[in-house]
Amino acid sequence: MPGRPTPSRRTVLRGAALTPVAGLGLAACSPGGETVDAEPTAPVDLGAESEVAKGGAKLYRDHNVVVSRDANGTLKAYSTICTHALCPINKLEGTKLICPCHGSEFDATSGEVLAAPASVPLKELPVEAKNGRVVAGPAATA
Ligand code: FES
Repeated sequence: MPGRPTPSRRTVLRGAALTPVAGLGLAACSPGGETVDAEPTAPVDLGAESEVAKGGAKLYRDHNVVVSRDANGTLKAYSTICTHALCPINKLEGTKLICPCHGSEFDATSGEVLAAPASVPLKELPVEAKNGRVVAGPAATA
């Protein structure tokens, strides 16, 4: 029976080598469910206006939106769907957004690219403060 362990081990290893590669490819770049991993298509109430500090930014992961406020109190909002390969950006350090897929970085106050591979700025979204709430998304200010 010396032949038995070798073929089965080979089979297991081959299977193990293939599965993660396919899985990673899907997880890293696929937009997945487009209705989930997308910016708002209508105005959404993101939360209390006081959560966005002057000179700061807040990432709303559930809605794929980042909202920043400048020193004058003006709000700006951007989609956090990465312009490189459409991954949802899930990390905000200060006012710097970092994409988990390939490491692109964006300025949350301007949408501009700070680090490649992305080369296109984030999409700006209309935003306003309404009754102490931050509301962002298309037609929010229409
Ligand atoms: S999807 Fe490639 S860096 Fe964001």
